[in-house]
Amino acid sequence: MVRAPISSTDLRARAKARLPRFAFDYIDGGAGEEDALARSRQAYRETCLRPRVLVGSVSPADLTQAWLGQSWAQPFGIAPLGLPALAWPGADLALARAAEAAGVPFVTATPGTATLEAVRDAAPTRSAFQLYVGASAEITEDLIARAERAGYRTLVVTADVPRAGKRLRDLRNGFGLPLRFTPRLAADLALHPRWSLATLRAGAPRLANFATYAEAGAGAQTLAQLMARQSSGRLDWDVLGQIRARWSGALVLKGVLDPDDTERAVKAGVDAIHVSSHGGRQLDGAPATLDALRTIRATVPLDVPLAVDGGVRSGEDILKALEAGADFVFLGRPFLYAMAAEGKGGPAALIEMLAAELEAAMAQTGRRSVAEIRSGASG
Ligand code: FNR
Repeated sequence: MVRAPISSTDLRARAKARLPRFAFDYIDGGAGEEDALARSRQAYRETCLRPRVLVGSVSPADLTQAWLGQSWAQPFGIAPLGLPALAWPGADLALARAAEAAGVPFVTATPGTATLEAVRDAAPTRSAFQLYVGASAEITEDLIARAERAGYRTLVVTADVPRAGKRLRDLRNGFGLPLRFTPRLAADLALHPRWSLATLRAGAPRLANFATYAEAGAGAQTLAQLMARQSSGRLDWDVLGQIRARWSGALVLKGVLDPDDTERAVKAGVDAIHVSSHGGRQLDGAPATLDALRTIRATVPLDVPLAVDGGVRSGEDILKALEAGADFVFLGRPFLYAMAAEGKGGPAALIEMLAAELEAAMAQTGRRSVAEIRSGASG
């Protein structure tokens, strides 16, 4: 019998074996030489925790955390992910259901493969909607109005796609939507019959929030072109101000790496900042997000809520991010590895794994609660 995965590294290895090459590369890859991707990961490897001893009873540590006016069972959640159905058909709803059951946030993406309405139904109290400011003001307004009608309380506006990232793996694989059946793709699919049958039977990955591919990005031949057309770089401070005036719920700006941008966003009425380099998928020269988080935390008031993502792979990494000043921590790829590796039970197993690792790390370092970390009480 094959051993069950016991770490996110295991999940990645299993996902790699199970997915067609183009799908794994889309999920796993980054922009350019993938330096930003590696840099964010490396920052966690180089950061040490500071154990305190003899703090008395540390078990079980309290992992609950407040974020955007809600209480969460864990201080971590699932980052917005485009095309999750490439990991497994039905991934969007499986992720949403796992988040709802575990009491953690799931941010569904504009390029999701289930509609934002279906995700809200699957996670009525735990989902948020990630917005790309699209090719036209009408598309943007339509998505905001739909999110409002569906009952979303939180809108996450992604700011780090003024242009499509140059993702060499996708370009080499010729990956675009709809899938183009080249001999290379056919050979790739033939090696992975289980994935191929299930995915093609489910109608292949669809951009479910759009009626047609044409609406999402007319005539795009590659993923880079599709992204370029969806996210045409229309977002500026004026547009952000208009979205703030339009959206009465919580508003998060995602993809911020600079303290001055943070200050300006807070002045513009944003409720929280999500420090992110899009998982190293946009700008290969982007700094490690853990470093950017530290810089930003040092310059903004303590009551400005900060989230971070990029390279978080374990409970110890989550603790490192919290210690560096994050109020909340998000993970992207590990949840898609879990879907591909374990099917619909994968996300729940990963949440449980991360929570157990975080609890153990807190016990090892003498931390009793997540709230205590942020107040620096045991520091
Ligand atoms: C993403 N990310 C992303 N972000 C966003 O705001 N909208 C999106 O549609 C997507 N799509 C997407 C697809 C895939 C396959 C990945 C891996 C990532 C970025 C994501 O929200 C997050 O910032 C990173 O994934 C965090 O890095 P890690 O945890 O993957 O290292």
